[in-house]
Amino acid sequence: MKSLKIGEVSLRHFKESDAKPYFESFDEWAKKCMFFVPKNKQETKKKIREYLKEYKIPASKRKIDAFVIEFKGEFAGFMIARKIIYKHQARTTSLIKKEFRGKGIATKAHKILNPYIFKKYKLKRMDAGVRTYNKASVKMLEKSGYQLEGCLRKIICVDGKYYDNYIYSIIK
Ligand SMILES: CC(C)(COP(=O)(O)OP(=O)(O)OC[C@H]1O[C@@H](n2cnc3c(N)ncnc32)[C@H](O)[C@@H]1OP(=O)(O)O)[C@@H](O)C(=O)NCCC(=O)NCCS
Repeated sequence: MKSLKIGEVSLRHFKESDAKPYFESFDEWAKKCMFFVPKNKQETKKKIREYLKEYKIPASKRKIDAFVIEFKGEFAGFMIARKIIYKHQARTTSLIKKEFRGKGIATKAHKILNPYIFKKYKLKRMDAGVRTYNKASVKMLEKSGYQLEGCLRKIICVDGKYYDNYIYSIIK
């Protein structure tokens, strides 16, 4: 894979050795915002193995492309394109470790990844679902060129509580 880099922010594919920093990325706030949260280290390793398996599938059939975001060479978070439908669409999600937030890293990672993913999978659309209370993610998506399409009301149910999700998209 060619180097994906802007300044001090770079993206690369996952390795098995990323299990520890990946698991540690999920602080209490992130757990309230993410679609998938690993419950333990075993589940973390299983998820990473899933990512590694996907890298071996030809792009036209691949469903997930997962990237580690590095800041100055350090694991700072990750960005995932999932639900990939070749020549059509994908859904993105990202997480930046607490100590790296607010430095513009996710916005830069989107700037790197959006053109790469659009080209690699010949997409027409990428979207992201974001909880309406997640102001940082809304701002990051808007700064990355995503536009608000609407709100899916009470679409998320966690522990008997219902939450609304905004849908943001970027098209080509
Ligand atoms: C959302 C997330 C990935 C953003 O990463 P980041 O690297 O901190 O994002 P950036 O620094 O590129 O941009 C965040 C923007 O939101 C702003 N922001 C942060 N918290 C905010 C808040 N509570 N209200 C309004 N704006 C906020 C920042 O000021 C920044 O805007 P600015 O550059 O104009 O100042 C990160 O906050 C995160 O990992 N959150 C937990 C997991 C999550 O929510 N993932 C997204 C799931 S859809």
